[in-house]
Amino acid sequence: MQELQIKVPATVPQDYTITIGTGLLPSLWPKVESTFARHSKFVVTDANVASAGHLDTLLAGQTVPHFVIEPAGEASKNIETTVAIIEAMEKAYLGRDTVVVALGGGTVGDMAGFAAAIFKRGVPVIQIPTTTLAQADSAVGGKTGVDSSVSKNAFGAFWHPAAVYVDVATLQTLDDRQYRAGLVESIKHALIADREYFDFLESRLDAILAREPEVLEAIAGYNCRIKGDVVEADPHERNQRRMLNYGHTIGHAAESVSNYELLHGEAIAIGIVAAGLIEVEMGLSEPQRLDRVRRILEKLSVPVKLPAHLDEKKLIDILKHDKKAVDKWPKFVLISDLGQVHCPDGKYAVDVSRDTVEKVLRKLS
Ligand SMILES: NC(=O)c1ccc[n+]([C@@H]2O[C@H](COP(=O)([O-])OP(=O)(O)OC[C@H]3O[C@@H](n4cnc5c(N)ncnc54)[C@H](O)[C@@H]3O)[C@@H](O)[C@H]2O)c1
Ligand SMILES: [Zn+2]
Repeated sequence: MQELQIKVPATVPQDYTITIGTGLLPSLWPKVESTFARHSKFVVTDANVASAGHLDTLLAGQTVPHFVIEPAGEASKNIETTVAIIEAMEKAYLGRDTVVVALGGGTVGDMAGFAAAIFKRGVPVIQIPTTTLAQADSAVGGKTGVDSSVSKNAFGAFWHPAAVYVDVATLQTLDDRQYRAGLVESIKHALIADREYFDFLESRLDAILAREPEVLEAIAGYNCRIKGDVVEADPHERNQRRMLNYGHTIGHAAESVSNYELLHGEAIAIGIVAAGLIEVEMGLSEPQRLDRVRRILEKLSVPVKLPAHLDEKKLIDILKHDKKAVDKWPKFVLISDLGQVHCPDGKYAVDVSRDTVEKVLRKLS
């Protein structure tokens, strides 16, 4: 018998630039061409983003091979679409010197990023997020993947972008419900990391809802900095990165029990209120703090209670299947103050008894 030790060096540290502005798209292509001069380009977008005019604006009349995902949205976020994207790249004679450009919301970013991660063992991806959710959350952090018929993001890879361009002007064409739901991730960031950001969101909400560019650029800056810092500290979600799951334990379960009738951000709004109620139950918060959070969510017109017809037993069952569950019960990220995660013994997700969760779910219905 022989035993050989192969030492694989740890991955080389990688950094990338996030550029934030208003109206970046019309002049972005020459920048992509010069930054990735030695690469062939392949653009992935979806039918809604294309019909809103953003693909034409980005390409500015140039002929670039591209793939338009249709139908847009979660329904297409699966392995079949990934195969179609990869085969389109092959048919366009693209090789390892390709850069994939993801233009769209979180579903496009996740699919294009995953296709880039596995095409010829990996080519770079540039993220150009066009939804409030993608600009706040999914474009930064390197999580990519697609759903199986059983569960969300069953296939996936960590595949950090080579560059991110956030053009807040693209948000002008997003429908109102999507726009508002995506802002919930911004509130989450403020709650876990930055009290001053929370004050900012609270005081500038009218301007945010009016989609004023200057305030949108400011929140993009806060979001990317907060998410970037967490991801830098814990790129592979061993501990600290779990704080980004604030509101997501009950939120994900509600999203799934609603059969995805609740948008992700809407479900997370309910999850954030649930976390707040747990914090009150556990003596980590005065009710006034939760009132403040609830008020801002209500002003966004996102739900702060579980939908009436939702099956609570099913929700509990989903909690037991949570991918981070230990002994069939998930741990919860909680905050001890605005901008401050409750982190006893350096643990960012803590035990909450089933009784407490059931009590909170009753208050949420
Ligand atoms: N990778 C991560 O870290 C991460 C984090 C959070 C969420 N996600 C994933 O992101 C996805 C949700 O992202 P999303 O909310 O952006 O959804 P989405 O990509 O489905 O976009 C929402 C809708 O808006 C349309 N759209 C996008 N940009 C538009 C624009 N500028 N103008 C008009 N229409 C536009 C889309 O076509 C779609 O119909 C989920 O699949 C979720 O799992 C990933
Ligand atoms: Zn989320």
